[in-house]
Amino acid sequence: MLNGKIALVTGGSRGIGKAVAEKLASLGADVALVYAGNRDAAEAVCRTCAETYGVRARAYCCDVADFTQVKQTVTQVKADFGTVNILVNNAGITRDGLVATMQERDFDDVIAVNLKGAFNMIRHCTGLFIRNRGGSIVNISSVTGVMGNAGQANYAASKAGVIGLTKSVARELAARGVTCNAVAPGFIDTDMTKTLHDSPLAATIPLGRMGTPEEVAEAVAFLAQAGYITGAVLHVDGGIAM
Ligand code: NAI
Repeated sequence: MLNGKIALVTGGSRGIGKAVAEKLASLGADVALVYAGNRDAAEAVCRTCAETYGVRARAYCCDVADFTQVKQTVTQVKADFGTVNILVNNAGITRDGLVATMQERDFDDVIAVNLKGAFNMIRHCTGLFIRNRGGSIVNISSVTGVMGNAGQANYAASKAGVIGLTKSVARELAARGVTCNAVAPGFIDTDMTKTLHDSPLAATIPLGRMGTPEEVAEAVAFLAQAGYITGAVLHVDGGIAM
């Protein structure tokens, strides 16, 4: 159980982030929900957490790619909740295209949100974890970061980067009692993948179906509570990457 713990979840207004926020709330954690723009959706998730599970939940508008905004947001979360015990770096975007024609902007934006966004959050929460002599970080990578994917060079690079970030942070903070792990989802049924249902790749999933946000949230909650696992990459992909 996570009673008394404070969980900061990025990209929590929909999809996997929403499922993670609600799962952690169901285990008793208070939730600081970071969202990019859809305030109504973020507040609806907070209401569900508070009314269904009786925890405190609050939404924060913040672009995770912006170092200064992240610093201010973490400061505000600390003022509101006292600290952060669990950080889930879930915010992510895709800007797919073949590498031969990919726009520089599309490469930079994906790295800025998916990889630097996770760094920014870790960078500004680490002081709190060190002070608490503990904490857990769960970063959402992707099967694409492990296997690569044609048409997603920017996204795959960002998600492979998240794995390197995860393992480095795990090594750096282990002596402080802080764990850092990654979840690598495969094809999960969310807004991000709504065009993929009929793709040939989806048809190659050994378990024969896309995953659900709740199945990813289970893995995140497991890693958030697992004191003796760090630097791991947990695949939640129906067997696609084996
Ligand atoms: P989604 O598109 O439904 O949700 C992404 C969330 O991130 C949204 O709430 C969005 O507002 C937020 N976000 C985007 N840019 C942001 C920014 N600059 N600052 C703050 N928040 C921002 O996507 P989904 O499917 O729920 O994905 C969540 C995570 O899981 C992403 O990191 C994604 O790359 C990863 N993932 C998803 C897979 C899938 O099949 N859906 C597979 C593998 C990984």
